[in-house]
Amino acid sequence: MKIAILKFAILNSLFAFSLSQCTGRLRDETEEISISWTVISNNSVNFTFVAPANTSEYAAVTFSNNNVGFTIDTTDMLANVDIIIAGNNGMVYFVEDRWISNVSVSGGPQFDVNQDLTNVRISLNDGFLTVNFTRPIISPNATEDINLDACRYIGFATEGEVESFVSPAEFGGPRTIGLFGSQICLQMCQFEASTEPPTSTTNGAIGLMMPLVAFIIAAVLAILQ
Ligand SMILES: *[C@@H]1O[C@H](CO)[C@@H](O)[C@H](O)[C@H]1NC(C)=O
Ligand SMILES: *[C@@H]1O[C@H](CO)[C@@H](O)[C@H](O)[C@H]1NC(C)=O
Ligand SMILES: *[C@@H]1O[C@H](CO)[C@@H](O)[C@H](O)[C@H]1NC(C)=O
Ligand SMILES: *[C@@H]1O[C@H](CO)[C@@H](O)[C@H](O)[C@H]1NC(C)=O
Ligand SMILES: *[C@@H]1O[C@H](CO)[C@@H](O)[C@H](O)[C@H]1NC(C)=O
Ligand SMILES: *[C@@H]1O[C@H](CO)[C@@H](O)[C@H](O)[C@H]1NC(C)=O
Repeated sequence: MKIAILKFAILNSLFAFSLSQCTGRLRDETEEISISWTVISNNSVNFTFVAPANTSEYAAVTFSNNNVGFTIDTTDMLANVDIIIAGNNGMVYFVEDRWISNVSVSGGPQFDVNQDLTNVRISLNDGFLTVNFTRPIISPNATEDINLDACRYIGFATEGEVESFVSPAEFGGPRTIGLFGSQICLQMCQFEASTEPPTSTTNGAIGLMMPLVAFIIAAVLAILQ
C-alpha cells in the first residue's frame, strides 16, 4: 500500500515537473542538435536552436500535435506542422515562420502570412547554426501556427540544401529529421508569469518548487497511511 502511494508520489512529482518546464533544454541522440527555451513573459518564449549546417544548407525546428511522419522514411505523412526554417551563408540569412499543411499535397512548407518571430539572431560558426528567436505561446492568429499552451512535440530537420538565401523557396530534403525525446509543455507558464515579475529566475524557481511540493505532500500522505 505504502509503496503504491510512494510510486504515486514519484509519478505525481514527475508529472508536475513535466508541466512546469518554463525553461529547459533538449538534445537529440547525437547531441549535435539542441533546443533551449525560457518563458520571458505571459505570452512569449525565447528559443535557442543549434544544429549542424553549412553555407548552402538550412536547419529547421518544428512544433506539432502528433509525432507522425518524423522519420526520414515517412515524411510523406507530415501534416499540420509549424516549422521555423533558418539559414546563413555568411552574407545573407533568413529565419522564417512557415507551415506544412500536408507534405504530400503542398510540395513544401508555406510562408506564414503572419510572421510571429521577434528578436531574431542567427550565426554560423564551425559548422553549427545558432538561431535565437522569440515567439508567442499563443499565436495571435494560429491558422498557420501550433500554440504552445499544451504539451507539443518538438522536432528538427537539418542539413537540407536551400537554393536561394535571399528568397528561400526550394528546400531540399534534409539529411536528418526527428523529434527530441520529450515534449515541450508551457501551459503552466502563462499563469506563473502573469502573477510574478517576468524574470526567468522566478519562473525557474517556481518550476522547480512545484514538483518538490507535490512530492512532499504525497510522501507525507504515504507515511500517514
Ligand atoms: C554543405 O554540405 C553538403 C553535404 O556535405 C555538401 O554537399 C555541400 O557541398 C556543402 N556546401 C558547402 C557550400 O560547403
Ligand atoms: C495529406 O494528403 C494526403 C493525400 O492527399 C491525404 O491522404 C492525407 O489524409 C492528408 N493528411 C492530412 C492530415 O490532411
Ligand atoms: C488568419 O490568418 C489567415 C492566413 O494565415 C487568414 O486567412 C485569416 O483571415 C486570418 N484571420 C484573422 C482573424 O486575421
Ligand atoms: C530573450 O531573447 C532576446 C534576444 O535574443 C534577448 O535580448 C533577451 O535578453 C532574452 N530574454 C531573456 C529573459 O533571456
Ligand atoms: C542566443 O541566446 C543564447 C541563450 O540565451 C545567448 O547565450 C546568446 O548570446 C544569444 N546569441 C545572440 C547572437 O544573441
Ligand atoms: C496571459 O496570456 C493569455 C493568452 O494570451 C491571456 O489569455 C491572459 O489574459 C494573459 N494574462 C495576463 C495576466 O496578461
